[in-house]
Amino acid sequence: MGGCGTLAGNAFRSGNASMSSSQALYPVPEDVAAGAAIRKDDYERMYAESVADPDAFWAGVADRLQWDRKPTSIRDVSFDLEDFRIRWYADGELNASVNCLDRHLETRGDKTALVWEADDPATDPRHVSYRELHARVCRLANALRSLGVRKGDRVTIYLPMIVEAAVAMLACARIGAIHTVVFGGFSPNSIADRIADCGSRLVITADEGVRGGKKVPLKANVDAALKLPGTTSVETVLVVRHTGGAVDMQMPRDRWYDAVVDDQPDTCVPERMNAEDPLFILYTSGSTGKPKGVLHTTGGYLVFASYTHECAFDLKEDDVFWCTADVGWVTGHSYIVYGPLANGATALMFEGVPNYPDSSRFWQVVDRHKVTLFYTAPTAIRALMREGDGPVKKTDRSSLRILGTVGEPINPEAWRWYFDVVGDSRCPIVDTWWQTETGGHLITPLPGAIAAKPGSATLPFFGVRPAIVDANGKVLEGEAEGNLVILDSWPGQMRTVYGDDQRFIDTYFKTYPGMYFTGDGCRRDADGYYWITGRVDDVINVSGHRIGTAEVESALVSHPKVAEAAVVGFPHDVKGQGIYAYVTLVAGEQGDDALRKELVTHVRKEIGPIASPDHLQWAPGLPKTRSGKIMRRILRKIAENAPEQLGDTSTLADPSVVDALVQNRRVPD
Ligand code: WTA
Repeated sequence: MGGCGTLAGNAFRSGNASMSSSQALYPVPEDVAAGAAIRKDDYERMYAESVADPDAFWAGVADRLQWDRKPTSIRDVSFDLEDFRIRWYADGELNASVNCLDRHLETRGDKTALVWEADDPATDPRHVSYRELHARVCRLANALRSLGVRKGDRVTIYLPMIVEAAVAMLACARIGAIHTVVFGGFSPNSIADRIADCGSRLVITADEGVRGGKKVPLKANVDAALKLPGTTSVETVLVVRHTGGAVDMQMPRDRWYDAVVDDQPDTCVPERMNAEDPLFILYTSGSTGKPKGVLHTTGGYLVFASYTHECAFDLKEDDVFWCTADVGWVTGHSYIVYGPLANGATALMFEGVPNYPDSSRFWQVVDRHKVTLFYTAPTAIRALMREGDGPVKKTDRSSLRILGTVGEPINPEAWRWYFDVVGDSRCPIVDTWWQTETGGHLITPLPGAIAAKPGSATLPFFGVRPAIVDANGKVLEGEAEGNLVILDSWPGQMRTVYGDDQRFIDTYFKTYPGMYFTGDGCRRDADGYYWITGRVDDVINVSGHRIGTAEVESALVSHPKVAEAAVVGFPHDVKGQGIYAYVTLVAGEQGDDALRKELVTHVRKEIGPIASPDHLQWAPGLPKTRSGKIMRRILRKIAENAPEQLGDTSTLADPSVVDALVQNRRVPD
């Protein structure tokens, strides 16, 4: 993305962020502050200590884990391109599954680790204790070893939101295999790309998933993926019987999960891992090329996921924590599995969707399980807000203590609805800003310490040094708007792009040398609060999911009737951003509704439903510079229905193409 972000963001976001006054302060409620582990002066003191002496601070925090060998080296970091390294706790040894399971057995063996709530509310929920979870993880870990999976091997997990998803992740961690979870909404092509990139030996899937009453053919998708080139590394597919739906089993490759796992011993010697050994790979979209495999390692990640989880939610022993994300995203990794379980907490896993059977479902689940800490995405809040207060108000929700949001900027209107209606003006909201790359929260309120402002992620977490830079990389002081960078490392930072160290450095450390570039635009107000304005690169954030414009474009041009395509984000009331595609057809083809549908279906098939264009406009030509570069700034303005803001078009090779695009643009009703 060139040397500088455009700061274009989108009108919806930056508009809302700048409209919201810095004055609207929601102080920490007195009762919350009184019961909180970290209060305002604690935050200020600890933050100052954490940046003054990060070694001492993070050495202390690391004591929260059980180490086989306690680290003596804490922080070994240089963002200098000549001497680049990011290593935390580098001589420490530990096992993540032991930290999430074994060490709780003595004191919390009978405590519920996971509550499982099915898609269908008529299905009985399940409560899995730490003891039972430990046994299930050990059985699968033994089974994986018996199938030849060894430390360092990659295992792909393509499962619905069922307990086995957490079991599978922890079983990999137990034997030192690197898991890579692929979201159940991704297509066979996307699964195949990810398998090919990391060379998985084994895939764990289920017969089918169910969401909102609809079946998802997971096993069939894996079958289709494994027919695609580059997937021959896969030797075994384990299939969880979930719905009981019919699937093709191809022997000897495919094995029923229960047949392989049930007879295994329920203890398993954990692999002793170095803190810097990989824990997992998670693919995420960037501005160019195919999704990249974000690699997280064991020690630093687990310290950071568990500590942020405890602090941001002011976790207490009896809390019931519900994060509505899917385990296919980083939020599910850090705040359904690793953070909560390392903390010995009770976490809820929900198979379904917010509006099934009706839009009261989230709150019914809250009441049913007496959820105290609730964590969701702005897109869900906006979708539910549309249904009015009724579905919320008919539920009790008095168990709720703290509300959280993540994934995209939250517009102040949705924030206030969440606060007033869902939380009955009682529960602090933590608007947590972070990324797949960061492993855990970097900018977030701590509920007992930091007063909130609707739409602001507020202040940095311990040890995190954010800064705002202008297009030339100059660090701006005080009130400022620009691109968000982080000046120093934190333990949960990604270590590399799997198999491509150079891409890691090029993507995150070249734009502004010596700093980690987040890809986000940001404003800092007079109180030092941070307001994320959205992506400044070619990544679109659709309902909190990252989609690279390049990925959608390459899916479109892989259709034989498409000559060229350009994709941008546009403001969308519920999704935050929608996908707007401009398509130039090959000569002789006619753009009509049937072809439009065909192309949308094609993208769904190539990537998955989350990448479906919301609007597709025929473009006889695309605005290009004389050197052939597509001017996305212009396409974004047309998609935003703001043709009066096109700016200078005189440098275009053929300025007249713009008029045609403006005339045929989508005008929202
Ligand atoms: C956006 C999800 C504003 C941001 C954890 C970031 C947010 C991208 C927030 C990462 C927030 C996430 N406020 N924007 N509270 N949280 N984002 O990797 O643009 O799926 O760069 O990680 O989501 O998305 P990712």
